[in-house]
Amino acid sequence: MVRANWQKIEVEAGRSYPVFLGVPLEDLGEYLESRAGDIEHILVITQRIIAEYHLERLLKGLEHYRVDVLEVPAGEGEKSLERLSRLTSEAIKLGADRGTLVLAFGGGVIGDLAGFFASAFMRGVRFVQIPTTLLAQVDSSIGGKVAVNHSLGKNLLGAFYPPLAVWTDFSTLESLPWHEMQNGLSETIKHAVMGDAELFAFLEEHVEALVQRKPDIVREMAVRSLAVKVRLVAQDEKEQGLRALLNLGHSFGHALETEMAYEGISHGQGVSVGVVAAANLAQARGLLSGGQLERIVRLLQGLGLPTCVQAKNPLKLLHRMEADKKNRSGKKVIVAPKGIGQAIILKDCSDEEILRAWRKVIL
Ligand SMILES: NC(=O)c1ccc[n+]([C@@H]2O[C@H](COP(=O)([O-])OP(=O)(O)OC[C@H]3O[C@@H](n4cnc5c(N)ncnc54)[C@H](O)[C@@H]3O)[C@@H](O)[C@H]2O)c1
Repeated sequence: MVRANWQKIEVEAGRSYPVFLGVPLEDLGEYLESRAGDIEHILVITQRIIAEYHLERLLKGLEHYRVDVLEVPAGEGEKSLERLSRLTSEAIKLGADRGTLVLAFGGGVIGDLAGFFASAFMRGVRFVQIPTTLLAQVDSSIGGKVAVNHSLGKNLLGAFYPPLAVWTDFSTLESLPWHEMQNGLSETIKHAVMGDAELFAFLEEHVEALVQRKPDIVREMAVRSLAVKVRLVAQDEKEQGLRALLNLGHSFGHALETEMAYEGISHGQGVSVGVVAAANLAQARGLLSGGQLERIVRLLQGLGLPTCVQAKNPLKLLHRMEADKKNRSGKKVIVAPKGIGQAIILKDCSDEEILRAWRKVIL
């Protein structure tokens, strides 16, 4: 089947599935024919920009199937029940049924939306993740979590619904804007800080090549980064324990994003500042040395990510953290780095301690 230079990693979860890396979009059809011969209909769910750049190559391999393409407008707002309902109407009109295979062809928004659609349509149809952003390739396409948002919160309606496979063609990143690359870089640095010291050193060594988006380096980084998530998902698919380590920087980051009403800050930027805040908290506890904190800050800055924010009220940010889904019995749960390459979950942080960490990242 696939040409040289591809890799396969198995996600060993409740229902295992393969993640194909460095595979051309054109070869997906051949894989489907060999693995899922009973597919009668394919529904591609994607966005205009992705279709413009990459759909032709994907469709080339699907000539033997009846294929329909549904385009969803871009934006987090489309991860909604309204969009889910419209997708259902459109799918029914197109004659979709239980023999339909859904292809989630896009970034994390499409992966979450189309994946949740697949989990619920006719009580569940098969789907394949085809991630086209760095964030989706290293993070959201792995782990089986799919969801839509609700007016009362992000990802409030969702499921653990593993795909048939993840099909990653790194060449799709060529059309991705730099600020979207940075969202994936931020999660990758998070993966390195909490789970892979060698990946951290690799990133430090290749900052320039990453800024220049050298394909070989980007690919190696992405493969190592997603491997961190694959490992944690295998140990804890339903996020009862270890998988929560992936939330490093997110309690602080989400608080910042909501306080700024998602204006002027991307998720990756929020995570970046959040990682630095968590690292400051860790340093104050003696879990991280000053030198290690400096290395984290330098790496984030080298990739153009923010490590502090302008004039924010730390008390308001602390208050925002009270809404974090990970909190337990009214106590804030914080993931903190333990050196570089490890992290721990802290359930005993005082508000004073968290405030001190916030003050370190507020100018
Ligand atoms: N399920 C999970 O485990 C998980 C984990 C992390 C994040 N997420 C979710 O992921 C979402 C964010 O994902 P994202 O950062 O990929 O954002 P996104 O899906 O909104 O994509 C970002 C932008 O890039 C465009 N785009 C995508 N691929 C492109 C390409 N190859 N070329 C040019 N443009 C392209 C999109 O149209 C969009 O405008 C959030 O909704 C978040 O909740 C889910």
